[in-house]
Amino acid sequence: MKILVTSVKGGVGKTGIALNLATYIGAQCVTNDLVVSDNSGIIQIEPKTKSMPIKFCANVPVVFDFGASYNSIDPKLARAVKLSNVIAIPTLTDARSLQGTIDTVNLVKVVGKPIVIIINNFTSESKFNHAKDYLIDALGQLPIFAIRTTTLFERVAKDGSEWFSKVHHIKGEYQLNKTRIAHELVYDAIIALGAKK
Ligand SMILES: Nc1ncnc2c1ncn2[C@@H]1O[C@H](COP(=O)(O)OP(=O)(O)OP(=O)(O)O)[C@@H](O)[C@H]1O
Ligand SMILES: [Mg+2]
Repeated sequence: MKILVTSVKGGVGKTGIALNLATYIGAQCVTNDLVVSDNSGIIQIEPKTKSMPIKFCANVPVVFDFGASYNSIDPKLARAVKLSNVIAIPTLTDARSLQGTIDTVNLVKVVGKPIVIIINNFTSESKFNHAKDYLIDALGQLPIFAIRTTTLFERVAKDGSEWFSKVHHIKGEYQLNKTRIAHELVYDAIIALGAKK
């Protein structure tokens, strides 16, 4: 299984979601971010590298965490779109993020891969509903999932992906374990779409 997490908008949660997703399915998390922290477990494609390294094209599980540019599809992103079984676009609920999400869908939809949107990092139900209605108005029906604001992302960033898989064994992490289960439902739905023939 290969999954592409992408958006033309920065700071929407691509890296956090891609890393969690990769950890969950036992895939490599590969990014085109310019800066990657050493202990994150994320594999960075050297910014100078123009095309997709061959080792990520092979039949191995990969989650691509790829920022995209508004006006042109770069060759690595184009390849990731073709290689991936499903494309996930995280978005925040503000107007610029929603427009960025619409632009991203229009950029990648030509290839005909299943696309899902993840409304990410929100706390208010009304903001979530507004974002969802706005996106369906602009794009028609497509799968939209929710990931609320959660400290799970900080914990994965701080303690590495190892921690994510162990949380249910740690005392006092009950709430985070519930969040982890909520995440896994979203990830399962994405994987199921990617597995559809
Ligand atoms: N659901 C969430 N709950 C809490 N914090 C979140 C959530 N999603 C993202 N964040 C935080 O928001 C910030 C931006 O997230 P992230 O780095 O994953 O976005 P990105 O799209 O990869 O950004 P960039 O465009 O810079 O690569 C991070 O500090 C991350 O921990
Ligand atoms: Mg990132």
